[in-house]
Amino acid sequence: MYTQPMLKEGSLKDQVIVVTGGGSGLGKAMGTYFLELGAKIVITSRNFEKLQNAAAEMQQKTGGEVLPVACDVRRYDQVETMLQTTLDKWGRVDGLLNNAAGNFISPTERLSASAFDVIIDIVLKGTKNCTLAFGKHWIKVKQEKATVLNIVTTYAFTGSSYVVPSATAKAGVLAMTRSLAVEWAKYGIRFNAIAPGPFPTKGAWDRLLPGDLKEKFDLAKKVPVGREGKHQELANLAAYLMSDFSAYINGEVIVIDGGEWLKGAGQMNMLEEVPKEMWDMLEMMIRGKKS
Ligand code: HXC
Ligand code: NAP
Repeated sequence: MYTQPMLKEGSLKDQVIVVTGGGSGLGKAMGTYFLELGAKIVITSRNFEKLQNAAAEMQQKTGGEVLPVACDVRRYDQVETMLQTTLDKWGRVDGLLNNAAGNFISPTERLSASAFDVIIDIVLKGTKNCTLAFGKHWIKVKQEKATVLNIVTTYAFTGSSYVVPSATAKAGVLAMTRSLAVEWAKYGIRFNAIAPGPFPTKGAWDRLLPGDLKEKFDLAKKVPVGREGKHQELANLAAYLMSDFSAYINGEVIVIDGGEWLKGAGQMNMLEEVPKEMWDMLEMMIRGKKS
């Protein structure tokens, strides 16, 4: 069931949605579902050839309209040009999915100052650049409603070693989400975030689990429901949050991780390892202490 599309046909009809990092991985999966629901989308990232190929594939699969636009989200001037290109093509924009990201694992003391910066610049400043440019536009044209959806991670609230620049940046994105959800609600702009658990993509897995780390650390084992996420179930949630069905959800971060982060957090969760047949004995020992 969870691998099936969820929303009814036309749920995003005639919406124009910009998906940053939309030419690969999760951005491509979410964008494809937006198209199936009737949206027109702009996919944007640095690699134009990749975007063109992805756009052709997405159009062929869905029959929808995709505009590929090269844009490095680190550059505010490029973001403004990307917004203008969108407006020139479709006359309006209704949604922004801040999905572009950079990340790699590393002990923090090995990072140069610019290695730390590159992640902050893509994730936090990139999200800021798009949000500010689009927000100013929506406020200027007095658009009735618009939606921003930010992709964060569960370590935006727990923190995580070995991906410290990413955790720092994603925490900032989450703070921005909650802050602007309140400040810009008066302009009809809604802000929400999704914190996905492990959803395998080439971009993430090449940088987070290079070489035989994939075999060494089976991420599915960290997840109480016992599996990794499927792209469609993330796309279902993203489409819902982008659509008017979620009009009363604002400033929320929705975790979709099969319970992964809570498993890591709960103090006694290691007891999952205790075999069933040991519980009689353990109970007896505990009760025995009463006297
Ligand atoms: C240490 C590194 C490094 C590494 C790069 N650098 N890789 N340092 N270990 N593995 C350093 C470089 O030496 C340089 O510093 C600085 O970082 C910038 O590197 P460039 O290669 O010049 O940057 P750029 O070409 O802009 O590439 C950005 C990138 C790259 C982030 C490094 O990986 C990229 O393009 N990523 C985009 C896609 C991506 O990361 N997707 C995964 C998202 S996954 P110096 O000092 O030499 O100048 C994700 C999942 C979250 O977010 C949670 C999952 C569960
Ligand atoms: P991905 O395929 O590597 O996606 C990252 C995208 O960002 C790429 O399309 C990349 O395209 C684009 N990008 C990078 N730097 C950019 C820049 N400076 N300007 C514009 N675009 C840029 O990885 P993914 O797994 O799908 O990740 C998508 C999102 O999900 C990210 O926000 C990530 O943090 C989040 N997430 C993923 C997982 C997971 O398990 N996969 C878990 C939690 C959160 P170019 O290289 O062409 O620029």
